[in-house]
Amino acid sequence: MNLASHTESIASILSSQQNRPGALLPILHDIQEALGFIPPDSIQQIASALNLSRAEVHGVITFYHHFRTTPPARHTIEICCAEACQSMGAERLVEHAKQRLAGSKHGECEVKPVYCLGLCATSPALMVGEELHARVTPEKFDRLIEQMGIKT
Ligand code: FES
Repeated sequence: MNLASHTESIASILSSQQNRPGALLPILHDIQEALGFIPPDSIQQIASALNLSRAEVHGVITFYHHFRTTPPARHTIEICCAEACQSMGAERLVEHAKQRLAGSKHGECEVKPVYCLGLCATSPALMVGEELHARVTPEKFDRLIEQMGIKT
């Protein structure tokens, strides 16, 4: 999606929501859902529509970890770093993942820590898209990224 279509999508979201009370958060959610992220150069457009300052809009975007200002990677691997997984080597797995993916194409894959995927009894666990993986060793991780076609 290019800059012009970003601006158009954002304009359409703004015009449908800007008059409702407390519109900023729903607008940010809708923009992120539509584009995958909130383009930093849209902050002025959002601020003007809501009669807010750029700093106010920027403050809300950076306050909530959910919002992102860069396009998402093609693949996101969520590795559980909560207690049960930690005790079964999640930290080592995260380090291994970062090391393996350091050589992959920029924007190809990102690793995100999450806190409990509900597979505590079969930890460490991770999730790729909607797919859960249990008892993930560094070797199993390598096989997984190979199956995903990620070149490292
Ligand atoms: S602690 Fe990792 S899945 Fe629950």
